[in-house]
Amino acid sequence: MKSVGYYRGREQTYLKHFFLERYLERVAYVIGYSQPQFVYVDGFSGPWKSEGEAFQDTSFIIAINQLRRVRDGLAKIGKQPRIRCLFIEKDPKAFGALEKAISNVSDFEAKALPGEFEKLIPDILRFIGQSFALVFIDPSGWTGFGLEKIKPILQHRPCEVLVNFMFDYINRFLDDSRPEISRSFGELLGGPGWDLARQPGRRREEAIVELYRERMRAMAGFKHVTSTRILKPTEDRSYFYLVYGTRHLKGLLEFSGVEKKTAAEQERVRLTAKQMSRVARTHQTELFSPEMVEMGPPSFEEERTSQLIAAATRLRAVLRRKPRIKYETVLGDLLEMPLVWDSDIQEIIKNLRAAGELDVENLAPRERTIKPGHVLISKKPR
Ligand SMILES: C[S@@+](CC[C@H](N)C(=O)[O-])C[C@H]1O[C@@H](n2cnc3c(N)ncnc32)[C@H](O)[C@@H]1O
Repeated sequence: MKSVGYYRGREQTYLKHFFLERYLERVAYVIGYSQPQFVYVDGFSGPWKSEGEAFQDTSFIIAINQLRRVRDGLAKIGKQPRIRCLFIEKDPKAFGALEKAISNVSDFEAKALPGEFEKLIPDILRFIGQSFALVFIDPSGWTGFGLEKIKPILQHRPCEVLVNFMFDYINRFLDDSRPEISRSFGELLGGPGWDLARQPGRRREEAIVELYRERMRAMAGFKHVTSTRILKPTEDRSYFYLVYGTRHLKGLLEFSGVEKKTAAEQERVRLTAKQMSRVARTHQTELFSPEMVEMGPPSFEEERTSQLIAAATRLRAVLRRKPRIKYETVLGDLLEMPLVWDSDIQEIIKNLRAAGELDVENLAPRERTIKPGHVLISKKPR
C-alpha cells in the first residue's frame, strides 16, 4: 500500500488500510492454510476519495494485492486454496470505476456487484457457497448494514467479519429524535433496547461500542467479538472502531497482533499529523522532531496502562467465580479487551503467580511460557 504521505489529511484512512493489509496478511494466510477455499467480501468497496488512477489507496486494491501475496506464500508450502473476491458498490459512478479496475485482474477470481449490500445478501451468500468467508464492511455512515438484515451473512459458517463502526458520526446523531434517525439506529444496533447506549458523559462511547459488539456476538453466535479504536489524526478523540467477530481463538490472537502494530503506527502518524497541523496554524517550522515536541506521556500509554489494570482485575474476578480455569479460556476472554495483548496476559498471570494469588497446573519446572493446556488455579480463599 501507499505510504502515509499519500494520505495527508486523511491519516485515519491510512490507518484503516494499514490494519486491513496486515489483518489479511495474517488471517487470510491462516485460513488459506487450513481451508480448501475462501472468499473475501468487501460490502462497501468504493473507490471513495481515492487520489490516484490505479486506486492504490483503496481497500479493494489493497486486498487484491495482499491476497495475491498470501496465495503466493501458501503456494510455496504446497497449499493452493481457491481464493475469490466479491466487491459491492452502490454508487453507479464508483461502481463503473471499480468494475474497470478489477477487469484488469486476470490471475485472480474477482467479481463486482452493483447495488446495496443489504439487498444483495442472497447473491453474496450464493457467491460464498460453502467457503470460508471474510467479510469487510466499511460504510460511509451507519446505515446499510443493519444487524438483523445482515444476519444470514453473520451466521454463515465459517465466517469472520470486520466492521468499520463510525463512532464519530453515530455519536453526533444518537440523540436526534427524528423518527427516521431513531429507526436507523434501531436497524444498525439490531432492534429495540438500543437507546441504552445513550449514556451521559464518559461512559457513552464505551456503552455504544459495547452494545454493538454484544449484539453482533449474539446475532452471529461469534465466540469472540473485539474492537480497536482509530483516533482523529490531530485531535484526541475517537474517529471510528474496527469491530471484529470470529469463532476462533486463533483469529482473535491474530487481530490482537495486528492491533499492536497499528497502535504503534497510529502513535507515530498522529505525532506527525499534529505537528504539521501546528506548523500550518502558526506558519512556523518547528525545529524538533515530532517525538520531541509532543509533551507528556502519550494518551495511548495511559489508556494501555488502565486497560492492563482492568485486565488483571478481570482475571481476579474470573478466578473468584471459577477457581480452576483453562489458560485458553482466560486468553480468549482477556484478548477481547482492546490494547491487551497476549504478552500482557502472560505477564499478568506471572505477576499474580508471584504474588501467590494463583498457580499454574501442568507447567513443567523450567517452563516459562503459559500455553493452552495449562490450568490456572486460584489460591485465594473464595
Ligand atoms: C467509506 S467508502 C468505502 C471505502 C473503501 N472501503 C476503502 O477503504 O477504500 C463507502 C462506499 O460504500 C458505498 N456505499 C454506500 N452505501 C452503500 C450500500 N448500502 N451498499 C453498498 N455500497 C454502499 C459508497 O458509495 C462508498 O463508495
